[in-house]
Amino acid sequence: MDINFSSIVPSLPFILQGIWVTLQIVAISLLIGFAWGIVLALLKISRIKPLMFLADAYTSIFRGTPLVLQLLIIYFGLPQLLGFPIEPYPAAVAAFSLNSAAYISEIIRAGINAIDKGQTEAAMALGVPYTKMMKDIILPQAFKNILPALMNEFITLTKESAIVTVIGVQDIMRRAYQVGADTYNYFAPLIFAGIIYYILVMLLTLLGKGVERRMKRSD
Ligand code: ARG
Repeated sequence: MDINFSSIVPSLPFILQGIWVTLQIVAISLLIGFAWGIVLALLKISRIKPLMFLADAYTSIFRGTPLVLQLLIIYFGLPQLLGFPIEPYPAAVAAFSLNSAAYISEIIRAGINAIDKGQTEAAMALGVPYTKMMKDIILPQAFKNILPALMNEFITLTKESAIVTVIGVQDIMRRAYQVGADTYNYFAPLIFAGIIYYILVMLLTLLGKGVERRMKRSD
């Protein structure tokens, strides 16, 4: 057995550069997924049957198939349909945003449903328009309750983003794998990648707790 940790030391900066790639893809995807998730959640509670059906069907498809398959379809399959290639980076962001929106829409829907009906009734009685009511009254309250679930999604996506390796994006995972291939020493770089992911998730957890505490203070 030859587990040589010191031989990968020169490659550590190369692997560490992947953090930026991973975080960028995850952060952008989460922002887009969040916006799209709000739209889907509003469609789901709209009581307009065709819109509810479309949003439900969307969620069902994106939750019902593996994310790695969705990524491969967007990167390898879609260009065949469109007639032009899609770069790995936007393909990854597209797959993660579309997938995450399905999960986030359910989180937001649950959050909205948990708000007391009296809030909506009071807003309506006061003649507050629907958009304003959602934007200024319902969603801000829902957001506070769903923060832990959103943080969970952030964490899931951070770890799940490792699958971009299959389409060649130079994230933490792919870099670690490459170092392994170059040095014929896989164990050390892969464990190093694991440590990086773990630290990232711990930092996200702390961040989530911090935001939660701040929001509690405003209660
Ligand atoms: N491995 C799961 C899948 O392929 C993860 C899906 C992503 N999860 C999420 N919450 N966005 O379906």
